[in-house]
Amino acid sequence: MALFKTKTDMSVAQMQLKIPNHIAIIMDGNGRWAKRRLMPRVAGHKSAMNTVKKIATAASDLGVKVLTLYTFSTENWSRPSDEVNFLMQLPIDFFNDFVPDLIKNNIKVQVMGDIEGLPDATQISVKNAIKQTAQGTGMILNFALNYGGQIEIIEATKKLAQQVANGEILPDDIDETTFSQALQTGNLGSMAAPDLMIRTSGELRLSNFMPYQSAYSELYFTDILWPDYTAENLVEAIESFTLRDRRFGGLNDKIESEP
Ligand code: IPE
Ligand code: IPE
Ligand code: MG
Repeated sequence: MALFKTKTDMSVAQMQLKIPNHIAIIMDGNGRWAKRRLMPRVAGHKSAMNTVKKIATAASDLGVKVLTLYTFSTENWSRPSDEVNFLMQLPIDFFNDFVPDLIKNNIKVQVMGDIEGLPDATQISVKNAIKQTAQGTGMILNFALNYGGQIEIIEATKKLAQQVANGEILPDDIDETTFSQALQTGNLGSMAAPDLMIRTSGELRLSNFMPYQSAYSELYFTDILWPDYTAENLVEAIESFTLRDRRFGGLNDKIESEP
């Protein structure tokens, strides 16, 4: 991205934004947001739902092609059952309320994670939302729900091992292309890897989120708690992304590649 020679050549105001094809967000900090307001943790999750609506709409308006949102991890089952139950109800409320807007915005819902491991009512709601938005040709809104990155890699490995055992493929046929097709993001093809990965709330870790796909993602961390996150904050992250020099191990700049 040789957009500018140096970062100081151009102020952010003049900058032409480079919109990432795929943005993934670790939406963190709901509990702390509620605690600061002396409210129960679940109040933070409820507020988070409105942020999802705002940010999904903003990303779609900006021309993002895939927005992946880390909604519930395979490790989040270890939380108190009241909180887990609340989190399992949220997708139902969210889709009941927001599917008409998603359809209006031509957004298509997709889900990655162990859907069968969700309570029946949550599964039904998720599957309905996928069906109802299936005609969408705009942004893919990909919810990571009951998702764990390590188990995703293990499941992909098992799938490929079974294909080898069945004589369908040879061990040598397993490469980056076949492996990434076997992951939960397989249907996203060349857009499976997030270009920009954002985590809110100040935690500096990925917490088992897309470990394979994030190999070359640009990482962006902000202290803002997810319920407070705004469309302007998303644009700030994209501004930072615009200024990144993505080299993928090579040399990008003409000057850099001169001997
Ligand atoms: C993120 O917010 C939402 C989920 C993990 C489901 P948290 O609930 O983790 O909020 P904090 O990190 O405790 O503040
Ligand atoms: C990651 O946040 C999971 C989601 C945002 C859904 P956590 O709050 O569960 O992560 P840790 O426990 O701080 O690593
Ligand atoms: Mg957290």
